[in-house]
Order: sequence, then C-alpha cells, then structure tokens
Amino acid sequence: MVEILTRYRDEIVAALERALAQDGPLARLLRYPLGLEEPDGTPGPGIGGKLLRPSLVCFSCEALGGDVSAALPLACALELVHNFSLVHDDIQDGDELRRGRPTVWKAFGAAQAINSGDGLLVLALKTAIEAQGALSPRAVLTALEVLSSATFRMIEGQALDLGLEGGDSGGVREYLAMARRKTGALFGAAFELGAIAADRPELGPENRELGETLGLAFQITDDILGIWGRPERTGKPARRDLVRRKHSWPVAYALEQDPALGELLSRSPVPVEKVLERLSALGVRRAAEEAARRYVQEARDKAEVLPWTQEAKGMFEELLSFLAKREV
Ligand code: IPE
Ligand code: IPE
Ligand code: MG
Ligand code: MG
Repeated sequence: MVEILTRYRDEIVAALERALAQDGPLARLLRYPLGLEEPDGTPGPGIGGKLLRPSLVCFSCEALGGDVSAALPLACALELVHNFSLVHDDIQDGDELRRGRPTVWKAFGAAQAINSGDGLLVLALKTAIEAQGALSPRAVLTALEVLSSATFRMIEGQALDLGLEGGDSGGVREYLAMARRKTGALFGAAFELGAIAADRPELGPENRELGETLGLAFQITDDILGIWGRPERTGKPARRDLVRRKHSWPVAYALEQDPALGELLSRSPVPVEKVLERLSALGVRRAAEEAARRYVQEARDKAEVLPWTQEAKGMFEELLSFLAKREV
C-alpha cells in the first residue's frame, strides 16, 4: 500500500473517532456515513474511505518540516467536509451505494440525510476551531478561511455539475471549470492546510495549485471508474454516470468528437449500451487515461518547486503512480 495513505491513517482514524464521539439526536446520522455505526445503532464496519485528503494535509505539513500533530485537527476537519459533500452528493446524484454500504439517504431518507451533511459540515468547522490547542490563533483563522473558501468552491462545482447534466452541455472546457471546483478545491485545501500547520502559510498559492491539479487527475480517473470500473472494487454503482447523463470527462470529450452523441444522451431512458459502443468507437477510455496522466504530470511539475524534504518527494512520487493506476 502507498506510504502516504498508511503513514497517518491510525492517527487520523483516532482523531475522527474523537470528533464523532457524540451523543444526542444527530449522533447516528454523523457516525453512520463514516462507518462507525449502523442504522440500528450497532457498531459499523469502521472508518471507510481512503482518507486521501486528510493524509495529504499531514503529508504536506511533514514534507515542509512541520509536526504532524499540528496538522491532525485540520486533517480531520477536511475529511468531515469531504463526508458532508458525499452525503449531499449522493442525494443529488440519486446514488444508493457508497463505500459498499447504502448511502445515508437510502438508509435514513433524504430529509435526515440533509441533516447528516449539515451536521458534518458544522462539526468540521468546530474541529478546525479546536485546532487552537495545536496552532496559533492566527494560524487557526487562516485555516478556517482556507477551509471555508474551498468548501464554497466545492459547492460551486456541485452546482455546475448538476447544471451540466443532460445531453448537449458543452465540452471539456466546461468540464474542467466544474471539476476544478467540485474536486480540486478540497485537494487544494489539503496541501494548503498542511502548509499552514507547518507554519509556511506564504506557500499557500503554490500548494493550492498543486492540489487542484491533482484533484483534476483524481476526478478524471473517478469518471473512468464511474463508467468502466468494477462495483465490487469501487464500492459504487457501475455506469450510473451514464444513466444520470453526467458531464464526466469521457462524455465531455466524446461530445466534442461526435455531437450526435448528445441525441443518444437525451433519450429517456439513456441507451447505455449504445452510448458505451460510441465511446468505445471513439477511443474515449484511452483519451481519458491520457488526460489523467497529463494532469498527474502537471502535478509532478508543480510539486517540484516546493521546498519538500527528499523523503517527501519519494513518497509523493509513489502516490502519483498509485493514482495513475487506481481501481478504488
Ligand atoms: C470520492 O472521493 C469523491 C470524488 C471526488 C471522486 P474519494 O474516492 O476520495 O472517496 P473516499 O473518501 O475514499 O470514499
Ligand atoms: C465528487 O462528486 C465531488 C463531490 C462529492 C463534491 P461525484 O458525484 O463525481 O463523485 P462520486 O462518483 O459520487 O463519488
Ligand atoms: Mg456522486
Ligand atoms: Mg456528483
């Protein structure tokens, strides 16, 4: 397994469990999506998900010579924002499976799932405020600014994503503006929060840029998996993005090559097999894999200018090769 994803995992899990050790009417709705509890109140399977974003916060901090303990509360806060985004995203996308379990709306209904997401978002902000034990008040304020701006941009991306659903909604350019926000924003925040925890806030812009680019590569790969991935590996339903007429990278690119595809995608229900045939004839999967690789290379170039330790550079390179090949 990739060092960046294992090195900080136990500490992040412990911090999340502490943040989610709640009583009261929201407890189950907050604990269920993270895998800590089942709908009937029995213990869940444990923290699901790769914990990629919080691992990047810790990594970015350590790579700049900072102390991981200073980064942990911010890492935890970012993972909570990410889970908030997923809980609401699954309502918006109508998806029934997440991390191999029923989505929150499927288990509790959409109305309570909205409360779940709202609760996770506010808990994220509270967790960041509580970083005062580990960080200076000034650093906490900067971190809150970064976290809330990134969250706002992520929600902008979600709005664009829903606006682009449908047959003839633009091409790759529109896709990139959307994906940079919906996924890039939290990745950007991950590196930036790490720099703040390492007391290097002046490196914010470079870190944000790096994260956004990596986020784009990540989302394009997610789009490939959303069409051609295996549900038993991804924990998410197959081909849902086609059924939902999502403006994924493969669809955005294919629409530019063959505008007639728009007609297929506007039929109800979407003729998924026919669309898949068109995508295959246009060589879309390969083109998408190449695009993801291009953004991985761009991320590599952007990381080059950061004053990271030699060990960190090696770890990051390993993460990049994992992201280029990932199946989960
Ligand atoms: C899923 O993100 C949402 C996207 C931005 C594609 P992850 O693939 O990081 O989700 P988990 O947290 O590991 O489940
Ligand atoms: C990912 O959205 C980004 C956010 C949740 C903000 P998607 O809808 O593309 O991701 P999955 O495939 O449901 O994880
Ligand atoms: Mg979704
Ligand atoms: Mg979505």
